[in-house]
Amino acid sequence: MKNEFIWGVATAATQIEGAPNQDGKTETIWDVMSKDGAFISDSHQVDTADDSYNKFNEDLELMKELGVGAYRFSLNWARIIKDGDGEINQKGLDYYSKLVDDLLDANIEPYITLFHWDLPYELYKKGGWLNRDITKAFKRYVEVVVDAIGHKVNHFITFNEPQCILGARLGGTIPEAKYSARDRNTMVHNLLLCHGEAVKVLRKCKNIKIGYAPCNDARIPLTSSKEDIEAARQSYFDVRRGDLSGVSVFSDPIIFGNYPKKYYEVNRIEDLPDIKEGDLELISQPIDFYCQNIYQGLYVKSDGNGGYKIVKPNKNAVYTLMNWVVSPESLYWGPKFLYERYKLPFYITENGCSVTDIITEDKKVHDSPRCEYIKQYIYQFKKAIDDGVDGRGYFCWSLLDNLEWFEGYKKRFGLVYVDFETYERIPKDSFYFYKNLIKK
Ligand code: FCB
Repeated sequence: MKNEFIWGVATAATQIEGAPNQDGKTETIWDVMSKDGAFISDSHQVDTADDSYNKFNEDLELMKELGVGAYRFSLNWARIIKDGDGEINQKGLDYYSKLVDDLLDANIEPYITLFHWDLPYELYKKGGWLNRDITKAFKRYVEVVVDAIGHKVNHFITFNEPQCILGARLGGTIPEAKYSARDRNTMVHNLLLCHGEAVKVLRKCKNIKIGYAPCNDARIPLTSSKEDIEAARQSYFDVRRGDLSGVSVFSDPIIFGNYPKKYYEVNRIEDLPDIKEGDLELISQPIDFYCQNIYQGLYVKSDGNGGYKIVKPNKNAVYTLMNWVVSPESLYWGPKFLYERYKLPFYITENGCSVTDIITEDKKVHDSPRCEYIKQYIYQFKKAIDDGVDGRGYFCWSLLDNLEWFEGYKKRFGLVYVDFETYERIPKDSFYFYKNLIKK
C-alpha cells in the first residue's frame, strides 16, 4: 500500500452517541421509531447506544491505542439545527468542534459524514426527502457546519449509503410509510440535489476534499472468463425497474451529470422525477474522491447471450450473523469496477462483520472469524490496488459494537466489545489484530 494510504475506523452518530435530549438535541426519525418499540428488534432503544456522546474521551483513547490514522464519524443534523430547519444549537456544534480538535490533537484525521440516516423528525413530518424544500434545509445545515469546523476538517462525505435512505425497513424513512415509484424516484432526486448543494457549500473551503459513500453488493465473476467478468460488470451497474439498490442511479448523475440511459428506459414517464433546468449541473459538480461500503458480493456469470445471471454462493459458503456471505473477492472486484467507471481516488468507507462474540470470564473476546474476515478482505483490496485501483484508504466498521439499526444491539460489528448495561469497552482480539496489521 502507498505511504499516504489511510487506515481508519468508522461509526455513525445514531449508532453510538446516545444522549438523545442532551444539550438541546431534537428528535430524529430513529428516536421516534425506537420509542414506539415496533420497529427495532426486541424493542431496543436508541437513547443510550454506546453513550459515546459522553464517553468520547474513552473512545479516543481506544483509537490512539489502535493506531488508526483516521476516524470516520457522522454528524447528527438534529443536534446542530433544531428540528433540522430551526435555530442553530450552539452546544451541539461546540460538541463536534471539540471532538474534531481532540482528534486532530491525537493526529487522527476526521472524515465527517454529513448524513448517515438520522433525518430530523420534524423534517420527516414536512415530507422529508419527498419535499424538495429539504434541499434548502440541508444547504443551511451544511453552511452552519462549514462555518464552524470547515477550516479544520479536510475530508467530508456528503451521504452514507443513499440507497438505504428510501424507506421500507431501511435507513431513512419510517418503515410503515408507503411510496409510489414516482415518490421514490423523487426522493432519490431530492437527495442528489442535497448532495449538490452540499458540494457547493463545502467547495468554498479550499482545504476540503469532498466524497460520497454509496453502497451495494459488489459483483464477483463466477469464473475468470472474459464473458463472466463482463457479465459481473454489467450486473453491477445495471438499472432495473423498481429497484433502487444499484450503484449507477445514485452515482452516474453525480459523476457523469445524468441518470443512466437505462433509468429512462425502465421507468414509465409518469414515474420519473421532476428534473428541473439546472438540477443535473448542481448534482454533478466535481467531487474529489469516491467511497463505497462493501460487505459482500453476489456471484455472477454470463447467460451466454450477452446478459448476466446471478448465481447462488456454493454449498461451502460461510455467512456472517447478518446472513451476508463472506466473499473477500468483493473487495477486489467492487473497487476495480467502480474505479474503472468513475476514475476517482477510492476509499472503502465500511467493511467488517458481525459474528458471535462471547465474552470470557477474564473479559476477553476471541473473535478469530472477524480477524480472518478482515485479513482476507484487505488482502483482496490490496490486490485491486496492485492492479491499478487508486485506493486511498480502508475504514473498518466499526470501532465499537453499536446499535445495528433495526437489528438493535444484537448484531455486534465492533473491534471493541461494548457491555450495553455498563457501557464498559473491552477490546476484542480483532482490535489487536487490526492494530498489528496497520502498524507502520
Ligand atoms: C451499513 C451502514 C452502517 C452499519 C453497517 C453494518 O449498511 O452504513 O451504519 O449499520 O451497515
